[in-house]
Amino acid sequence: MATSPRQLLHEAFPGRAKQIDQILGFMGKPWASTPPSLLINGNSSLGKTAVVKATLSAVLGGGSSSSSSSSDSISSQIRSEQHLQDRRRRLPSRYAFLDCVECHTPRLIFEHAIYQFRNPPPSQDKGSKAFSSTHTTTTGTSDNKAAATVSRKRKRVATSPLDWNKCENVNEFVEWCRKICDTKDELDEVHETHDNHRPVSGSISKHQNETRYLVLDRAERLRDTAPTLIPVLMRLQELTGRNICVILITTIVWEKFRSKTGGYEPIVLNFPQYTKSETVAILGRDLPEGEEENMDLYMRFVDLVYDVFQRNCKDLNEIRHLVALLFPLYIKPVKEGKIQKHEGLKLHRHIQAYFVEAMDKLYLREISSTEWSDRTLSVASGSLSGVSGSTIGGGAGGHVSGAPGGDRALTTALDVQNVFDLPYYTKFILIASFLASYNPPRLDMRYFAKVSSTGSKMTKRSKVAAAKKHGHDSMGSKLRQQLLGPKPFPIERMLAIFYSILDEEVEENVNVHTQIASLVSLRMLQRVTPMDKLDSIKCKCNVSYEMIKTLAKSTRFEIDKYLYDFS
Ligand SMILES: Nc1ncnc2c1ncn2[C@@H]1O[C@H](COP(=O)(O)OP(=O)(O)OP(=O)(O)O)[C@@H](O)[C@H]1O
Ligand SMILES: [Mg+2]
Repeated sequence: MATSPRQLLHEAFPGRAKQIDQILGFMGKPWASTPPSLLINGNSSLGKTAVVKATLSAVLGGGSSSSSSSSDSISSQIRSEQHLQDRRRRLPSRYAFLDCVECHTPRLIFEHAIYQFRNPPPSQDKGSKAFSSTHTTTTGTSDNKAAATVSRKRKRVATSPLDWNKCENVNEFVEWCRKICDTKDELDEVHETHDNHRPVSGSISKHQNETRYLVLDRAERLRDTAPTLIPVLMRLQELTGRNICVILITTIVWEKFRSKTGGYEPIVLNFPQYTKSETVAILGRDLPEGEEENMDLYMRFVDLVYDVFQRNCKDLNEIRHLVALLFPLYIKPVKEGKIQKHEGLKLHRHIQAYFVEAMDKLYLREISSTEWSDRTLSVASGSLSGVSGSTIGGGAGGHVSGAPGGDRALTTALDVQNVFDLPYYTKFILIASFLASYNPPRLDMRYFAKVSSTGSKMTKRSKVAAAKKHGHDSMGSKLRQQLLGPKPFPIERMLAIFYSILDEEVEENVNVHTQIASLVSLRMLQRVTPMDKLDSIKCKCNVSYEMIKTLAKSTRFEIDKYLYDFS
């Protein structure tokens, strides 16, 4: 059953069916006039470039020969389905696809556009000479007669006024556009030869009148490099009097392009953010080769990555990159037979430390992907158990149990320092959370009360002395808090500790609850109450002793004095 280009495009771009249909509707029939301009906008990595390129390529075939528009596998798959593909590729292109970062002056835009519309064959692609020399590429058709006719005609075209020259200003560009639109192409000529049909001299053939599209990707750059060109491009159809349409692709809204003097407005088409199911469907297509039997596991992993990262990272390319880097680590214990495929919780625990690392180091570009994957793989091969279930920075338990350095999670002492670029009050919230997680609540009064049981105001020194009396002398006699790991604490208790250790008024504009939420999203605090429970929220502190010590040092807070039974 033949599949239409539209269906192929829908399959190639999950979540973009509506936009593809809108673009196809905008283009209409090849020879029908289109509106003069279209503006496609949306955030980064939403498929604007890929969808427009693949749609034009699927509908118009061929494609531009620009270095910036190397066709990807999706569009080549679509193109391969096209009936007219081979023939089209040898014809002057119906569209030019320019990247405004590469074409950073009006002249570059004009000349690249003309170059692509003329679509010289690759063998001739050697600078500007390519435009003027006669080309002798064979048509590859079995019909020698037709090929000979085409070759003769080409020679004639080569000496026509369309020979390459330069194009320096808008007037010349408009003139060039007219010439390009008026030039009869091979398809017309081959048709004429075969059908013995000679159009009346001066008449415009069906193919000659087909719409040409000038696509300018990353068009926001035009505002800096060629601001005066924007109103001209919007009116190109009117200025040339030909069926030519300009498509701008950008991440910004049209209002930011508008000139003060006014001008034509384009039709605006917005590419919205992908939903979770769309993102998962897109990422699901990237299943690594040879992992077909682990498809279920892969989809579960993609789902997990989306849930963990989507709040901080909306960029599809970034999430894709994270999935590609983290999936081998996720699947490693399964391959080694240490964890079964269905043991989702164990797998989750195993990958958690890597997630935090990826978020801190990779997403913030502190280290490169290669460096990161080298480090993670070497740690993973060193000891899997050391990483499993550990807290950020190695975990309080990992630290005291005297685990060798290589066994701990990936954070080194240097990294610990880097991680703590937190705001001032957030640092104290984290310290308070650590204290609440590791100190028994019964000792809060002794450590943090502002007034003593006798009613006198407690100084820092008296608080610490009182706590020592009841705490540190019992070292070794009971199970040490440190070995038990972090315990859940109510937010209210943590806030009480926070206000106590701060010893100063918190500024009014500081939203403590937002900062707690940020720490939860950074996985430094872990919420243990279900999401649907809104009051009496409990959290656990998920950072290591080593890390909190560094953090406390940076705020000149002596945390050791407030920790019960810690060393
Ligand atoms: N719906 C989709 N289906 C499959 N792949 C997609 C989809 N959307 C985006 N992609 C892929 O994501 C990558 C980024 O897409 P693209 O470059 O087109 O985004 P963009 O919107 O042009 O971003 P930018 O504004 O940064 O240029 C490409 O590899 C593209 O193939
Ligand atoms: Mg793009």
